[in-house]
Amino acid sequence: HFIYHLRGLNPIAQSIRQLFNCGYVSIVPGDSDEDETIKMQLGKEAAQYLKKTINNGDIVAVTGGTTMAQIPRAMENISSLKDITVVPGRGGLGEKVEIESNTIAAELAKKLKAQYKLLYIPDNLSPETMESVINEPGIREILKTVRSADILLHGIGGAEEIGQRRGLSEKEIAEISKKGAVAEAFGFYFNKDGKVVHTTTSVGLTIADLKNIRIVIAIAGGANKAPAIQAFLRYHSPTVLITDEGAARKLLELE
Ligand code: G3H
Repeated sequence: HFIYHLRGLNPIAQSIRQLFNCGYVSIVPGDSDEDETIKMQLGKEAAQYLKKTINNGDIVAVTGGTTMAQIPRAMENISSLKDITVVPGRGGLGEKVEIESNTIAAELAKKLKAQYKLLYIPDNLSPETMESVINEPGIREILKTVRSADILLHGIGGAEEIGQRRGLSEKEIAEISKKGAVAEAFGFYFNKDGKVVHTTTSVGLTIADLKNIRIVIAIAGGANKAPAIQAFLRYHSPTVLITDEGAARKLLELE
């Protein structure tokens, strides 16, 4: 049964890779919208891919979310790597601590015997306060590390869903939707054509930093996320996509 799935999923992965010029596409059987345990498989797949591609000296940036939270859980203990640093991609997005990027960064660092640097910045600071926070020498130093990431592992969410989860007001969500946002990733909101239409006032990776990252790995599954995944893939290429069957099939339907 499993082999049948794999055979069936390979051509789908190939099509997605070609359509969006992805670096690599991996599809796990099932749909995480229907079965929460599929997220564990996504985490496992992402952990394996990271293990394969990480080099000594790399800075690894991670984002938050329930999917990303599975990666450190699935990661084996590795002690052969040297001089790895794990950092959150963005700080202060308003997630619960269990699924916050700082937590995931610290947990992943433990598995990789790596050092970590965390960004503890309160949510929803005013732009003026944010400006002075990022000029603090300690924060500046961490931001410099984040912005020189070699690998970025990130989740993708539906814009509205993520807005709600992070406690945005109805009004804010409506404004972001009005701008055409369908997807969110590391604090940026994208429309269906993959254009950034809104940015949260959090600090960390900027849009300009992405092109300097050696490997951008998106981990997102569930058929409902297909429009959000499509938007992100239109935004950044080449992305390595780790997804599930539900999202992958829906993604091809949308194209
Ligand atoms: O920005 C994207 C979200 O963090 C994805 O969250 O993995 O819980 O759906 P999720």
